[in-house]
Amino acid sequence: MASLFSKTITLRNDLKITDKEFFQLRDFIYEQSGIYINDNRKYLLENRLINRLKELNLKSFGEYYYFLKYDPGRKQELNRLFEVITTNETSFYRNPPQLKVFQDIILKEVLDKQRAKGQKKLHIWSAGCSTGEEPYTISMILHEVLKLEINSWQIKITANDLSEGVLRSARRGVYSQYSLRTTPKEIIAKYFIDEGNGKYRVKPEVKKLVSFGQLNLSDRFQVKRVERSHIIFCRNVIIYFDDEMKKNVIASFYDNLLPGGYLFIGHSESLHNISRAFKPIHYPGAIVYKKEG
Ligand SMILES: C[S@@+](CC[C@H](N)C(=O)[O-])C[C@H]1O[C@@H](n2cnc3c(N)ncnc32)[C@H](O)[C@@H]1O
Repeated sequence: MASLFSKTITLRNDLKITDKEFFQLRDFIYEQSGIYINDNRKYLLENRLINRLKELNLKSFGEYYYFLKYDPGRKQELNRLFEVITTNETSFYRNPPQLKVFQDIILKEVLDKQRAKGQKKLHIWSAGCSTGEEPYTISMILHEVLKLEINSWQIKITANDLSEGVLRSARRGVYSQYSLRTTPKEIIAKYFIDEGNGKYRVKPEVKKLVSFGQLNLSDRFQVKRVERSHIIFCRNVIIYFDDEMKKNVIASFYDNLLPGGYLFIGHSESLHNISRAFKPIHYPGAIVYKKEG
């Protein structure tokens, strides 16, 4: 596999990234996004950036680094860079056991608490939402749980990502069957319009609850401006950060959550050695992190 991969690179380009260029770009990417690229992913970075260098007619990765730092168009290029380096793998109803805990236990508790306070208001934050499958899934679950009562609630799902490219697809809300691979059939029938060409469009009532916007989790000022949340989803995102960045991001989620709020992270991720502020609660198939209060 490794030899096949390196062969593809040799055939596709004559530009090579030197160690110095790799470290410069790696540090720059880390400063800008908190995404940490390991030494063993040097060729992956080379492979992902090579076409961009060709489009810009640049002769080396060093020139690309200077372009990113000093060119008048550097802000736009930074967005292109984010699109190239991020991993956007996602799907509707990703990790069903975790979503079952969300639907049957956590959401029910949070909604009951709000009803008891006479405040039919709910804010959920999907941080690192990629092409939108996660926040739309949350919206569908809310429709399933609240049914007609949903009309008497003020609900907002804030969905953010670093990459403008994925946000464009998210706002469009049109998906292939592959994105629906773990979605129950009755949910597909209820919340999607089958466009007939293998494409499925999310229904307007699902879209209505979700607001998309670009946000960089490594920018604490941007993060501070997010409305306080009852529940945060940040699944399969911190896996790309180093420990320092993970600690900062998780601390900012703690600050953002309202007392009694919950954090969901990816099932292969852990807060071990990252934060002791949350109370981990173990359910079959999921650990949920609670901000007590
Ligand atoms: C693998 S996807 C996860 C999508 C979804 N949460 C899920 O679990 O299916 C990771 C997403 O995190 C985003 N991301 C990475 N670094 C980020 C940052 N610093 N700020 C905001 N989003 C970031 C990426 O652009 C990507 O879309």
